[in-house]
Amino acid sequence: MKKQLFALLFALVPLAAMAAPAPDAPYSMTPDIRDQESLQRGMQLYTNYCLGCHTLEHQRFARAAEDLGMPQDLVEENLIFSSDLAFNDQMHNAMEAGDAENWFGAAAPDLTLHSRLRGPDWIYSYLLSFYKDPSRPTGVNNAVFEMVAMPNVLEPLQGVQEMVCAESDRPIGDAELDPLTGKYQSCEVLQVTRPGAMEPDEFEEAVYDLTNFLTYVGEPSKLQAQTLAPKVLFFIFIFGVLAYLLKREYWRDIH
Ligand code: HEC
Repeated sequence: MKKQLFALLFALVPLAAMAAPAPDAPYSMTPDIRDQESLQRGMQLYTNYCLGCHTLEHQRFARAAEDLGMPQDLVEENLIFSSDLAFNDQMHNAMEAGDAENWFGAAAPDLTLHSRLRGPDWIYSYLLSFYKDPSRPTGVNNAVFEMVAMPNVLEPLQGVQEMVCAESDRPIGDAELDPLTGKYQSCEVLQVTRPGAMEPDEFEEAVYDLTNFLTYVGEPSKLQAQTLAPKVLFFIFIFGVLAYLLKREYWRDIH
């Protein structure tokens, strides 16, 4: 019995690792892949602002449409921009391999499994952390990913964000907590200095949706698994009762 208990304990170790927060992500978000509207908005943002450079190799438009409850004609009209792509195709783009490397100095990676590699917190933080830096070829740098080669493609929505000296509610970079005000004093505070099409909290919402969508894409079958799980548990319970009754029946004559 002791051995079994030990084995059980070891089986729980990966759970502890999964629960660990991302160490290099200043902001956190809790994905909700049951929130279809958020996922739909996320997919719309993705196809408009990201798919041009980042493919989703392992995801088909059709599968996403089905899981997110979107009719085929709506997806074809509004989310598939390339005439080479059909509803049943994987979410590719028109870029040739090596293009991004030539243009930006780094390849734009496929993002299908990225939420599982980096974690949603990291992606969320990364997308919120672009700031103006004229010394970079793209004109921007990123507080989470130093010297990043990606331009800030969401700038029309977010506006121009700069790194300034100020108080902030959030701990960023070298921030120190002022015990009197409860705010962080820092010269690495990200602040929108020229507004974009969205208010800062609207923009955070949009980035939430985008990250939520990337989380769903990382494991689309999780949605099904979550609806199936209670049914499986119910079956195991009923089966357990039957198996127990059967065992009692078999052993009755022996005892
Ligand atoms: C103009 C092309 C382009 C567009 C559009 C673009 N990216 Fe990128 N992205 C890049 C490049 C190039 C890199 C590689 C950066 C590097 O390695 O320095 C990158 C890197 C990334 C990374 C980090 C990859 C890593 O190494 O962990 C993420 C996450 C990401 N992009 C998400 C997005 C999202 C989400 C969008 C849409 C809002 C988007 N990108 C739009 C070009 C682009």
